[in-house]
Amino acid sequence: MTGLSDPFNRPINYLRISVTDRCNLRCIYCLPAQGIDLLPHGEILTYEEIATIARLAAELGINKLRLTGGEPLVRAGLPRLIAMLAEIDAIDDISLTTNGVLLEEYAAELKRAGLKRVNVSLDTLDRDKFQRITRHDRLAAVLRGIEAAKACGLDPVKINMVVMRGMNDDEIPDFARLTVSQGWHVRFIELMPFAVAELVRRDCGGGEVDTPGFMPAADIKQHLSSLGRLEACLPPGGNGPARYYRFPGASGTIGFITPVSEHFCFSCNRLRLTAEGKLRPCLLSDRETDLRQPLRSGASCQELKQVITRAIRSKPQKHRLRRGKVAAKRLMSQVGG
Ligand code: 5AD
Ligand code: SF4
Repeated sequence: MTGLSDPFNRPINYLRISVTDRCNLRCIYCLPAQGIDLLPHGEILTYEEIATIARLAAELGINKLRLTGGEPLVRAGLPRLIAMLAEIDAIDDISLTTNGVLLEEYAAELKRAGLKRVNVSLDTLDRDKFQRITRHDRLAAVLRGIEAAKACGLDPVKINMVVMRGMNDDEIPDFARLTVSQGWHVRFIELMPFAVAELVRRDCGGGEVDTPGFMPAADIKQHLSSLGRLEACLPPGGNGPARYYRFPGASGTIGFITPVSEHFCFSCNRLRLTAEGKLRPCLLSDRETDLRQPLRSGASCQELKQVITRAIRSKPQKHRLRRGKVAAKRLMSQVGG
């Protein structure tokens, strides 16, 4: 293993792989109600192609993989891909980010295939609000999915809540209490401005449907102040951009992910692969390097590794969200969060 660094000396050891741009939900901050034009199947990397890229990336120093979407569990046979990735020697952590709708059905099979842990996106515990946010009535399925994941040892299960002012900020204390009563690991995520905001505005003629509102982590913390003292603690399994706290005696933790109010680009260790085979060195920049074309035209392993290395060399130093610069070319469902 050589160990990859980008031009700013950040070690790059984490590859996030989007396995599909499809999703079985339509979260208001992610997708317009009618969905988007989807990639034709032939343009999506096969599992064999993904495994090849992961193996080459591992030879270059990647040791952590995360599968994302869209919704990764809507792609048929995902456990087969996980089993292929688990065979790569240098990979010591494989995780999945899911909306949880299909998790009950797949949890045990995923675990057997070699998946270590899951992050479940869940923004509300209220059925009506769930329907308003995701445009689907699937809250009960998600809650069953979370339990199934815990029961089969996909550990830790982390819950990602995107906080939207006026939409679900009133539930911040409810989520926080679950870190005590249920041992949940909850992460509050600041809403990032993505191209969909524009689509939502356009589709809704400027009103009617709730346009999600931003709330900085400092305000989220204030919602927690009446519940007790938070003490800083270590991350529950894996290292990421979140800062973690817990209430004294709680088995679960509370994390804050603050891409907007306090960017963590200086410690970013990630590279992203889109479903159609583009390497994307930064979630929030439109810079991309195509791997599919060289892969399908018979490039050698050495040449493909050079493409990966080149993508890492193009990793921007930091995003410019606060200066109003957002990635415009893709929606979150096409990059995988
Ligand atoms: N801002 C913050 N988080 C987002 N996610 C999707 N879109 C946004 C956004 N605009 C989250 C999902 C999921 C993860 C993949 O990214 O809720 O937890
Ligand atoms: Fe699907 Fe996740 Fe986007 Fe919601 S945020 S529509 S679950 S990809």
